[in-house]
Amino acid sequence: MDDAISIRQLSKRYDSGFEALKHVDLDIRRGEIFALLGPNGAGKTTLIGCVCGIVRPTGGTIVVNGHDAATAYRQTRAEIGLVPQELTTDAFETVWNTVTFSRGLFGKPRDDAHIRRTLESLSLLDKRDDRIMSLSGGMKRRLLIAKALSHEPSILFLDEPTAGVDVELRQEMWRIVRELRRAGVTIILTTHYIEEAEEMADRVGVINHGELILVEEKTELMHKLGKKQMSLELTEQLQSIPDALNRYQLELIDDGNVLVYTYDTHGARTGITPLLQELNEAGIRFRDIHTTQSTLEDIFVSLVKSPP
Ligand SMILES: Nc1ncnc2c1ncn2[C@@H]1O[C@H](COP(=O)(O)OP(=O)(O)OP(=O)(O)O)[C@@H](O)[C@H]1O
Ligand SMILES: [Mg+2]
Repeated sequence: MDDAISIRQLSKRYDSGFEALKHVDLDIRRGEIFALLGPNGAGKTTLIGCVCGIVRPTGGTIVVNGHDAATAYRQTRAEIGLVPQELTTDAFETVWNTVTFSRGLFGKPRDDAHIRRTLESLSLLDKRDDRIMSLSGGMKRRLLIAKALSHEPSILFLDEPTAGVDVELRQEMWRIVRELRRAGVTIILTTHYIEEAEEMADRVGVINHGELILVEEKTELMHKLGKKQMSLELTEQLQSIPDALNRYQLELIDDGNVLVYTYDTHGARTGITPLLQELNEAGIRFRDIHTTQSTLEDIFVSLVKSPP
């Protein structure tokens, strides 16, 4: 019960017969920012919908702060704020009324001080009496966050919070999300932007074709990304790597014409200098060197390009 959300074997088959989620297991830790990455149609919104009680799962269980989402819907829903992917708002209502009304929907007593604080933290307080239709796109997005926070949830879902927004607004969203985390809110955001996951997340999950194919600490992931490869094009084909070079764990590719050395850019020493020296001593000559570094994007692309 230490996790904010615990999902087991979650499956969703839509009436069309389409399997949008396939046996997903996922635990969201209290207080973390979890980024769910995945291409269009991967199942991100469906997953969120299941946790928020908007989509009815066809299998599995979801426990939110100890409440079973299937049997204790109201308690579960009260723990959650949802900023939906699609912007839908009642255009004629004012900012203040919209947020106050949202809180009322959850049966929470009126609390003007909380609404004030929420609007203030989202730089919307001076717009409190404005009608929604008069707000800019960025303000509307902030309003959706204010609505989602109106009933003081401990968990906030942001479904593509920065899709199609400009750089400035994206950074502002990131700032808001960080502030919320500092205030103790657990945050799950979905995104197409790898950069966003890199910037924001404590942990990253990758979903594709309804399957969760990777969940990892971002730092761990970044560590893997910190690996670089140096390829040496040899002047003469090599049959095998001399034993004296074993400690470098070299790889011989392209019929013995290229020697590949993988090293850690985060390490104090890369080992390149002694390697080159030892190659020289072993009489191995090369005509060209190039280095490559895998990015989160490479990992993502290689993960999601595999067929369903
Ligand atoms: N009501 C529905 N009936 C049938 N299929 C649906 C329904 N809603 C979603 N799907 C399908 O389920 C799959 C997952 O959709 P979902 O909206 O969860 O993806 P997503 O990862 O959020 O994508 P995006 O990045 O485009 O928002 C898609 O193939 C979609 O067409
Ligand atoms: Mg979606």
